[in-house]
Amino acid sequence: MDIKGTLKGKLNAEELKCLPRAFEVVGNIAILEIPEELEGRKETIAEAVFAVQKNVKVVVNKIGEVEGVFRVPKVEILASKPRSFEGIPKKFIPKALTETVHHESGARYKIDVSKAYFSARLSGERERIASQVKSGEKILCLFAGVGPFAILPARKKKVKVIAVEINQDAVKYMLENIEMNKVADKVQAIEGDVAQVLPGLKGKFDRIIMPAPKNAADFLELALSKAKKGTIIHLYTFAPVEEIKTLGEKIKARCFAAKKKVEILDVRKAGEIGPYNYRVSVEIKIE
Ligand SMILES: C[S@@+](CC[C@H](N)C(=O)[O-])C[C@H]1O[C@@H](n2cnc3c(N)ncnc32)[C@H](O)[C@@H]1O
Repeated sequence: MDIKGTLKGKLNAEELKCLPRAFEVVGNIAILEIPEELEGRKETIAEAVFAVQKNVKVVVNKIGEVEGVFRVPKVEILASKPRSFEGIPKKFIPKALTETVHHESGARYKIDVSKAYFSARLSGERERIASQVKSGEKILCLFAGVGPFAILPARKKKVKVIAVEINQDAVKYMLENIEMNKVADKVQAIEGDVAQVLPGLKGKFDRIIMPAPKNAADFLELALSKAKKGTIIHLYTFAPVEEIKTLGEKIKARCFAAKKKVEILDVRKAGEIGPYNYRVSVEIKIE
């Protein structure tokens, strides 16, 4: 049964209509976005989540939008149950209720959902990019968060990855995740602002991953300075549906203005973020 079905008889018809259609589960934490109209029913809703998702042990509610440069939501804990983390080495076992370990594509990511950005919904994108990576590649992963886009290719192939992230908390988890996933010989985490770190990096990269749709596009020209002939750039951005068709041409023009001739390999929706608004993935190849 779904959460709506479980709550029939506990919430009235008007309240049932206000229930969010879906919620995200990261590790054993369910992250709800309960609307104001259901403010007084939060605990009842949290209990219903436990009833429908047996793997969930903590239910949190997002308060307000994902904000700021770090893209971290404020959350309140609604309910929790005792947790165990089977198979996770003792040193990585979460302590705070907002911490968890998320299993994805054979990798494990430790996260505090109140301190660093992570979305389980991007697992398909991470798989898609990692499947394109070839052994021997030198990869630059910008806006790396707790490391999922950097760690997955390193688990699959013999590569060298530099992962740059500005949020100190996210970097702390990324370092743990690098160790937990046994890729310390392949992935180097650098804490800092992409704008300051990039000019100091030596050499060019075969692949540049830019998974920060809110602001990655502002750094396109800087990323181009680390690209060479054949480099693939994976750029994420937000766009309203009517702009997606022309996005590739606009990006091509920007690259041309920065003296880089490029081919746009792919422009695709990578998730709906609101009515007629999408996260869009753009794949750029330097010619
Ligand atoms: C939407 S999150 C994506 C995190 C990660 N790529 C993922 O998918 O889980 C964007 C990340 O970019 C980081 N960020 C934003 N501006 C940055 C900058 N100028 N330099 C380095 N990191 C930055 C934020 O702290 C945040 O962790």
